[in-house]
Amino acid sequence: MDLKSKIAVYQDFPKAGISFKDINSLIADGDAFRYVTDKFYDIAKALDVNIVCIPEARGYIFGSALAYKLDVGLVPIRKPGKLPGEVMAKSYTLEYGSNTVEIQKDAIRTGDRVLIIDDLLATGGTMKAAIDLVELLGGEVCGALFLIELTDLKGRETLKDYYVESLVKYNI
Ligand code: PRP
Ligand code: MG
Repeated sequence: MDLKSKIAVYQDFPKAGISFKDINSLIADGDAFRYVTDKFYDIAKALDVNIVCIPEARGYIFGSALAYKLDVGLVPIRKPGKLPGEVMAKSYTLEYGSNTVEIQKDAIRTGDRVLIIDDLLATGGTMKAAIDLVELLGGEVCGALFLIELTDLKGRETLKDYYVESLVKYNI
């Protein structure tokens, strides 16, 4: 399937100079959504995963479908102030702006094999922050999966110590 034909591109959103890749057109297409979920499953099934970790918000979409197929549970990573109980926080720089993410301290157990999935790899800051949180809790990150990779932003360099896969690559 030509996934790029399913992904709408908006120039200068959310600000000038950004070429925004909109996954909403892809997930609205049932065949395309099933296709990418099956592709993620083909990659993930060999990784002996027992937790799928999902960065808010767009990671939830693909991670939920994948966790169902893998028959494992989900651990959300959220923007600040959303998670109750004891949390661990990590700040990072985004393609546009900066952000902080949090995880519940009891969400990961030592030795858990954690696959983290998100819609898009840009600078890698979001994924690296998620990885750091999982590792701080004793989890082992066995992979980082993305639908889209913006190769010019060199997120793979940020994630060079990890197994990274993406289904669609754009220069920018
Ligand atoms: C976007 C995207 C990735 C991240 C990629 O999330 O969904 O999570 O940026 O950028 P990076 O590789 O430079 O970190 P964003 O925080 O904009 O919001 P959303 O997922 O909540 O819509
Ligand atoms: Mg996101």
